[in-house]
Amino acid sequence: MNILVTGGAGYIGSHTCVALIEAGHTVIVADNLCNSKADTIDKIKQITNGKIIFYKIDVTDEIAVNTIFATHQIDGIIHFAGLKAVGESIEKPLEYYYNNLISTMILCKACQKYGVKKIVFSSSATVYGNNVVPFKETMELLPTTNPYGETKAMSERIITDIVKVNPYMSAALLRYFNPVGAHESGLIGEAPNGTPNNLMPYITKVAKGQLEKLYVFGNDYPTVDGTGVRDYIHVMDLAEGHVAALNCISEGVHIYNLGTGQGTSVLQLVKVFEKANATEVPYEIINRRPGDIAECYANVSKAAKELGWKAKRGIVEMCRDAWIFEKYSELSKESDIEVAATKER
Ligand code: NAD
Ligand code: UD1
Repeated sequence: MNILVTGGAGYIGSHTCVALIEAGHTVIVADNLCNSKADTIDKIKQITNGKIIFYKIDVTDEIAVNTIFATHQIDGIIHFAGLKAVGESIEKPLEYYYNNLISTMILCKACQKYGVKKIVFSSSATVYGNNVVPFKETMELLPTTNPYGETKAMSERIITDIVKVNPYMSAALLRYFNPVGAHESGLIGEAPNGTPNNLMPYITKVAKGQLEKLYVFGNDYPTVDGTGVRDYIHVMDLAEGHVAALNCISEGVHIYNLGTGQGTSVLQLVKVFEKANATEVPYEIINRRPGDIAECYANVSKAAKELGWKAKRGIVEMCRDAWIFEKYSELSKESDIEVAATKER
């Protein structure tokens, strides 16, 4: 299939491009590079030995989006492009609603105009709010505490309504749990701008000595050791989940949790990271982060049953691959990262 991947230069999008090319699909990326770099496209080519068509466009630009649909026979889209920093979305709500919702609407409009049959959308476990774990696709969605989360719930509704009036369309709304890790080559991975907000990129910066210590947000939650529990999923497993969704969905709207079904606490993750990478991650317990919930993990039986997809990689691989990417990310300019990562294994 010819698949348009919006946000394909980003963290999850780039890994999904690798999985799509390896599965034999033709990939067309649309990304404005507001949170990614053009050389990621070259790295995808290097990993897959394949071809990729890249458009540097903003997907809120309707004319630019339509040009892609008019130029290529698009069979399906995977819509990753979006702004994703929860804290920033509270400070700049309009930017988040504009970027994340206008992009979804323009893409839906183009799919309708050009008769595109398949739509895969990047949603988030954040739409479950503070439900009781494990989260199941049939649960009623609870209000999220931030505009970012609202854009995910609203985009799900927009896509659902578009598919209702275009019965030839199939849509997969994929609710990601906590993606971590990197492609095993060490060539692509998660490289947030500035100080990371999320746990794994923060841990790798501490291990590298670029940040002094990890601040653990609370140890008084009703969890195994008092620290927050999340369902971490290797980004390559997540990427493969998208390929499975594209292949399997029939007409209508289908919602899937993409997680492992296993909860891991902050301190458990720190311990596994230290052991897997023979390194140290100093930490200090501080107050809870506002808006955090105690536990978040998935019921993954629907994706297993209907998509035949299950996460294969465990916490040790997630920690190992995140660390390899972090350690060698600065070497990329000298293009010897691949050699270094290969030696590492
Ligand atoms: P990312 O920031 O690495 O990738 C998003 C990409 O979209 C970037 O390359 C950015 O340049 C591009 N982009 C943003 N707005 C654009 C626009 N208007 N036009 C064109 N390109 C644009 O983020 P990611 O972690 O890869 O996340 C991908 C998607 O998955 C996002 O929609 C995000 O909300 C969702 N998601 C991510 C997580 C996570 O933990 N990373 C969890 C749940 C859901
Ligand atoms: C965060 C977002 C969520 C988004 C998800 C994507 C918030 C409030 N929520 O979720 O909407 O969908 O990222 O991956 O930002 N932690 C620390 N110290 C740190 C960082 C995190 O102790 O420096 C803890 C957190 O309290 C949490 C766990 O680590 O218990 C995971 O945090 P994080 O990686 O930020 O992900 P989420 O909170 O699940």
